[in-house]
Amino acid sequence: MSDVTAQGAIDPRALRDCCGRFATGVTVITTRTSEGDHGMTVSAFMSVSLDPPMVSICLDRRSKMLGKLRKSGRYAVNILSQRLHPYALHFAGRPDATLPDVFLERHGLPVLRGAAALIVADVVQQVEAGDHVLFLGHVRHLDHDQEAAPLLFHAGQFGSFSADPVG
Ligand SMILES: Cc1cc2nc3c(=O)[nH]c(=O)nc-3n(C[C@H](O)[C@H](O)[C@H](O)COP(=O)(O)O)c2cc1C
Repeated sequence: MSDVTAQGAIDPRALRDCCGRFATGVTVITTRTSEGDHGMTVSAFMSVSLDPPMVSICLDRRSKMLGKLRKSGRYAVNILSQRLHPYALHFAGRPDATLPDVFLERHGLPVLRGAAALIVADVVQQVEAGDHVLFLGHVRHLDHDQEAAPLLFHAGQFGSFSADPVG
Protein backbone atom coordinates (compact mmCIF):
# COMPACT_ATOMS: atom_id res chain seq x y z
CA MET A 1 0.00 0.00 0.00
CA SER A 2 1.42 3.43 -0.84
CA ASP A 3 1.30 5.77 2.21
CA VAL A 4 1.62 9.52 1.59
CA THR A 5 0.82 10.76 5.12
CA ALA A 6 4.48 10.79 6.17
CA GLN A 7 5.16 13.45 3.55
CA GLY A 8 2.94 16.01 5.31
CA ALA A 9 0.66 17.88 2.89
CA ILE A 10 -1.72 15.81 0.81
CA ASP A 11 -0.72 15.77 -2.82
CA PRO A 12 -3.76 16.36 -5.09
CA ARG A 13 -2.64 13.64 -7.50
CA ALA A 14 -2.34 11.12 -4.64
CA LEU A 15 -5.79 12.10 -3.34
CA ARG A 16 -7.24 11.68 -6.82
CA ASP A 17 -5.58 8.28 -7.27
CA CYS A 18 -6.80 7.16 -3.85
CA CYS A 19 -10.39 8.30 -4.39
CA GLY A 20 -10.25 6.68 -7.83
CA ARG A 21 -10.10 3.33 -6.02
CA PHE A 22 -13.73 3.86 -5.10
CA ALA A 23 -15.58 2.22 -8.01
CA THR A 24 -18.52 4.32 -9.19
CA GLY A 25 -21.13 4.46 -11.86
CA VAL A 26 -20.93 7.18 -14.48
CA THR A 27 -23.51 9.90 -15.09
CA VAL A 28 -23.95 12.67 -17.59
CA ILE A 29 -25.46 15.74 -15.99
CA THR A 30 -27.58 17.77 -18.38
CA THR A 31 -29.18 21.17 -18.15
CA ARG A 32 -30.79 23.82 -20.35
CA THR A 33 -30.20 27.59 -20.38
CA SER A 34 -30.99 30.37 -22.89
CA GLU A 35 -27.57 29.57 -24.40
CA GLY A 36 -28.66 26.00 -25.19
CA ASP A 37 -28.30 22.49 -23.85
CA HIS A 38 -25.20 21.24 -22.06
CA GLY A 39 -23.98 17.88 -20.78
CA MET A 40 -21.06 16.95 -18.55
CA THR A 41 -19.73 13.58 -17.38
CA VAL A 42 -19.82 13.28 -13.58
CA SER A 43 -19.01 10.35 -11.32
CA ALA A 44 -19.47 12.39 -8.12
CA PHE A 45 -23.18 11.68 -7.84
CA MET A 46 -24.73 10.62 -4.55
CA SER A 47 -28.17 9.79 -3.24
CA VAL A 48 -28.72 11.97 -0.15
CA SER A 49 -32.22 11.74 1.33
CA LEU A 50 -35.38 9.73 0.74
CA ASP A 51 -37.69 12.10 2.61
CA PRO A 52 -37.53 14.70 1.21
CA PRO A 53 -36.10 13.09 -1.92
CA MET A 54 -32.66 14.57 -2.52
CA VAL A 55 -29.52 13.83 -4.52
CA SER A 56 -26.25 15.68 -4.98
CA ILE A 57 -23.54 16.16 -7.57
CA CYS A 58 -20.11 17.71 -7.15
CA LEU A 59 -18.72 19.99 -9.87
CA ASP A 60 -15.30 21.49 -10.49
CA ARG A 61 -15.38 25.28 -10.25
CA ARG A 62 -13.68 25.44 -13.65
CA SER A 63 -16.40 23.47 -15.45
CA LYS A 64 -18.71 25.26 -17.88
CA MET A 65 -21.57 23.34 -16.27
CA LEU A 66 -21.17 25.24 -13.00
CA GLY A 67 -22.33 28.62 -14.38
CA LYS A 68 -25.04 26.98 -16.46
CA LEU A 69 -26.47 25.16 -13.44
CA ARG A 70 -26.43 28.34 -11.39
CA LYS A 71 -28.50 29.93 -14.15
CA SER A 72 -30.96 27.11 -14.84
CA GLY A 73 -31.43 25.88 -11.27
CA ARG A 74 -32.29 22.40 -12.61
CA TYR A 75 -30.42 19.32 -13.70
CA ALA A 76 -30.97 15.81 -14.96
CA VAL A 77 -28.77 12.96 -13.77
CA ASN A 78 -28.48 10.48 -16.65
CA ILE A 79 -27.00 7.25 -15.26
CA LEU A 80 -25.06 5.71 -18.11
CA SER A 81 -25.74 2.26 -19.41
CA GLN A 82 -22.81 0.31 -20.85
CA ARG A 83 -23.91 1.00 -24.38
CA LEU A 84 -23.59 4.76 -23.77
CA HIS A 85 -19.88 4.27 -22.96
CA PRO A 86 -18.69 6.47 -25.90
CA TYR A 87 -20.66 9.40 -24.46
CA ALA A 88 -18.70 9.31 -21.18
CA LEU A 89 -15.66 10.84 -22.91
CA HIS A 90 -17.77 12.85 -25.34
CA PHE A 91 -19.18 14.83 -22.40
CA ALA A 92 -15.83 14.98 -20.62
CA GLY A 93 -14.10 17.46 -22.90
CA ARG A 94 -13.33 14.99 -25.73
CA PRO A 95 -16.21 15.59 -28.14
CA ASP A 96 -16.68 13.00 -30.88
CA ALA A 97 -18.43 14.51 -33.89
CA THR A 98 -19.23 11.05 -35.29
CA LEU A 99 -21.54 10.17 -32.38
CA PRO A 100 -25.26 10.51 -33.04
CA ASP A 101 -27.06 13.14 -30.96
CA VAL A 102 -28.73 11.34 -28.08
CA PHE A 103 -30.58 14.24 -26.50
CA LEU A 104 -34.33 13.88 -26.05
CA GLU A 105 -36.52 16.31 -24.14
CA ARG A 106 -38.10 15.26 -20.84
CA HIS A 107 -39.62 17.59 -18.26
CA GLY A 108 -38.18 20.62 -20.08
CA LEU A 109 -34.59 19.30 -19.95
CA PRO A 110 -32.34 17.52 -22.44
CA VAL A 111 -31.83 13.88 -21.41
CA LEU A 112 -29.89 10.97 -22.89
CA ARG A 113 -31.73 8.35 -24.89
CA GLY A 114 -30.80 4.88 -23.55
CA ALA A 115 -29.74 5.94 -20.05
CA ALA A 116 -30.00 3.27 -17.34
CA ALA A 117 -31.83 5.75 -15.10
CA LEU A 118 -32.94 9.37 -15.08
CA ILE A 119 -33.35 11.69 -12.11
CA VAL A 120 -34.55 15.26 -12.59
CA ALA A 121 -33.86 17.65 -9.71
CA ASP A 122 -34.24 21.33 -8.77
CA VAL A 123 -31.16 22.86 -7.12
CA VAL A 124 -32.04 23.62 -3.49
CA GLN A 125 -28.60 24.24 -1.98
CA GLN A 126 -25.07 24.93 -3.17
CA VAL A 127 -22.20 24.02 -0.87
CA GLU A 128 -18.85 25.64 -1.67
CA ALA A 129 -16.25 22.93 -1.10
CA GLY A 130 -12.71 24.00 -1.98
CA ASP A 131 -12.20 23.84 -5.73
CA HIS A 132 -15.58 22.09 -6.18
CA VAL A 133 -19.22 22.97 -5.49
CA LEU A 134 -21.86 20.50 -4.29
CA PHE A 135 -25.30 20.97 -5.82
CA LEU A 136 -28.01 19.45 -3.67
CA GLY A 137 -31.13 18.78 -5.66
CA HIS A 138 -34.75 18.08 -4.77
CA VAL A 139 -35.88 15.17 -6.95
CA ARG A 140 -38.90 15.99 -9.13
CA HIS A 141 -39.00 13.12 -11.64
CA LEU A 142 -37.63 9.57 -11.84
CA ASP A 143 -37.34 6.81 -14.39
CA HIS A 144 -35.19 3.72 -14.86
CA ASP A 145 -34.64 0.83 -17.22
CA GLN A 146 -34.78 -2.47 -15.34
CA GLU A 147 -32.72 -4.28 -17.99
CA ALA A 148 -29.88 -1.79 -18.65
CA ALA A 149 -26.32 -2.91 -17.85
CA PRO A 150 -24.51 -0.15 -15.93
CA LEU A 151 -21.24 1.49 -16.99
CA LEU A 152 -18.67 1.54 -14.16
CA PHE A 153 -15.50 3.58 -13.53
CA HIS A 154 -12.50 2.54 -11.43
CA ALA A 155 -8.89 3.74 -11.31
CA GLY A 156 -9.29 5.70 -14.53
CA GLN A 157 -10.84 2.83 -16.48
CA PHE A 158 -14.34 2.02 -17.64
CA GLY A 159 -15.77 -1.42 -17.01
CA SER A 160 -18.90 -3.48 -16.64
CA PHE A 161 -20.67 -5.02 -13.68
CA SER A 162 -21.28 -8.69 -13.24
CA ALA A 163 -23.24 -9.94 -10.24
CA ASP A 164 -20.76 -12.38 -8.72
CA PRO A 165 -21.52 -13.18 -5.07
CA VAL A 166 -18.50 -12.42 -2.85
CA GLY A 167 -17.45 -14.61 0.07
C1 LIG B 1 -15.53 9.17 -15.76
C2 LIG B 1 -15.43 10.66 -15.49
C3 LIG B 1 -15.96 11.18 -14.33
C4 LIG B 1 -15.90 12.56 -14.06
N1 LIG B 1 -16.45 13.03 -12.91
C5 LIG B 1 -16.42 14.35 -12.64
C6 LIG B 1 -17.03 14.85 -11.46
O1 LIG B 1 -17.62 14.12 -10.67
N2 LIG B 1 -16.99 16.20 -11.23
C7 LIG B 1 -16.34 17.05 -12.10
O2 LIG B 1 -16.31 18.26 -11.84
N3 LIG B 1 -15.74 16.59 -13.24
C8 LIG B 1 -15.79 15.28 -13.54
N4 LIG B 1 -15.21 14.80 -14.68
C9 LIG B 1 -14.55 15.74 -15.59
C10 LIG B 1 -15.54 16.51 -16.48
O3 LIG B 1 -16.42 15.62 -17.16
C11 LIG B 1 -14.77 17.35 -17.54
O4 LIG B 1 -13.89 18.24 -16.91
C12 LIG B 1 -15.72 18.11 -18.48
O5 LIG B 1 -15.00 18.44 -19.65
C13 LIG B 1 -16.30 19.39 -17.89
O6 LIG B 1 -17.32 19.82 -18.76
P1 LIG B 1 -17.72 21.33 -19.05
O7 LIG B 1 -16.56 22.22 -18.67
O8 LIG B 1 -18.01 21.36 -20.54
O9 LIG B 1 -18.97 21.61 -18.27
C14 LIG B 1 -15.26 13.44 -14.98
C15 LIG B 1 -14.73 12.90 -16.16
C16 LIG B 1 -14.81 11.53 -16.43
C17 LIG B 1 -14.24 10.98 -17.71
